[in-house]
Amino acid sequence: MSHTTSRDMFRSGIGAFAATLGSAIGLGNIWKFPFLTGMNGGSAFVFAYLLSVLLVGLPILVTEHVIGRRMRMNAVPAYAAAGRARIWSTIGYAGLIAAVLIMAFYTDIAGWVFAYVFKSLNAAASGRVLGPEDFQALAGGTLEPLAWQTMVLVLVVIIVGAGVSRGIERATKTLMPLLLVLLLVCDIRALTLPNSYAGVQFLFAPNPGRLSPAVLLSALGLAFFKLSLGMGTMTTYGSYLPDSTKILPNATRVALADTLVSLLAGLAIFPAVFSFGVEPNAGPGLLFITIPLIFSRLPLGWLFTAMFFILAAIATIGAMVSLIEVPTAFLAEKGGMSRFKAAVLSAAAMLVLGVFATLSMSPRYPGLKLFGLSMFDLFDFISSNILLPLGGIAIAVVGGWILSRDQYLGELGKNYLRQPGTHAALHAMVRWVAPVLITLILLNGLGVIRL
Ligand code: PHE
Repeated sequence: MSHTTSRDMFRSGIGAFAATLGSAIGLGNIWKFPFLTGMNGGSAFVFAYLLSVLLVGLPILVTEHVIGRRMRMNAVPAYAAAGRARIWSTIGYAGLIAAVLIMAFYTDIAGWVFAYVFKSLNAAASGRVLGPEDFQALAGGTLEPLAWQTMVLVLVVIIVGAGVSRGIERATKTLMPLLLVLLLVCDIRALTLPNSYAGVQFLFAPNPGRLSPAVLLSALGLAFFKLSLGMGTMTTYGSYLPDSTKILPNATRVALADTLVSLLAGLAIFPAVFSFGVEPNAGPGLLFITIPLIFSRLPLGWLFTAMFFILAAIATIGAMVSLIEVPTAFLAEKGGMSRFKAAVLSAAAMLVLGVFATLSMSPRYPGLKLFGLSMFDLFDFISSNILLPLGGIAIAVVGGWILSRDQYLGELGKNYLRQPGTHAALHAMVRWVAPVLITLILLNGLGVIRL
């Protein structure tokens, strides 16, 4: 098949793990998880999120890898082939739209992260600490956030256009552990601040009263966003997985590591939020307000702040590469253009929508709203809470019902002498639990049905 000849593959088990994890870990962990937790009542949201990862996220991640590796194509032809009908390529096409919508706001925040590297160094040079007003000036500006956003997109195009270089893979492999160490330093500092326990309670003390249809949908949406599911990213990455990779253990490790990083970020931020009396529901700015505050209480705090944002910036690159890879691989394979040209075209579409998302965060452009949501929030809502769950349902149908059970288990059981019992259980979850649960949460969250 012509798609497969030009394809690179992950060379080793550890490479496959690192690349998948690199796509999963990003702003979702250190920015979105904490701010959504803060806005949705803390522990109730955390609980709903953990359940979503276990009951839906992991089965869908495995299914995307199974389908991707079995078909060895990008998502559009992969689903047409796996579903044995052209109509299923819709999953791939919807994924292209989701990738553009997500990147429109993702690059805005990534731009803030890059800006904060320089801002923290500048602030240090003049002996001050970055405060909420610095964040408002940046996010509420016009040219400054747009310039950063464009810069971020150019950077990603260069990387993707050149092929997903082994440089980036190697870099993330060494820098991810560094991010983890720095996150632990944040955790220790945050947990030893006065009144930090209130933050731990906010995250973990049971609070079922706060569970609502909207909270459940937003937790499910985050699980999809976090694990890069429902839009073909993990299918495409699955097509690069070597046959020697054991899909279920690999996916389980990715889901666990990703969840751990999210929880560590929450443990760094909420104790500090309560200690400094910041509002936990500050929204998208939460990270940019609390991290400089936490580190300002440490010797050489400016250095830690700058390092934190450098590592966060690196984490965003791995995720953005995997996001732009979806339309890039499609355009390059289907449209027959060079990867570079395909990446430039994808980035252009992302920038056009991105300008709307970015400017809608500024009080200067109050008109950039639709259905009462800013463009930024709207793109986020449509992609995470609608497109990705819908994609998830369709993927579960193709994987659980159209692909035969033998084909599914055959791919999952590659490199095993005997099929483990967990594989059959997983297949049953893909067939019954995941699609039913996603459908109920989606309809309930959108107010179509009342449970
Ligand atoms: N998982 C990435 C993050 O948490 C975002 C992402 C979503 C990447 C969808 C690819 C596809 O930042």
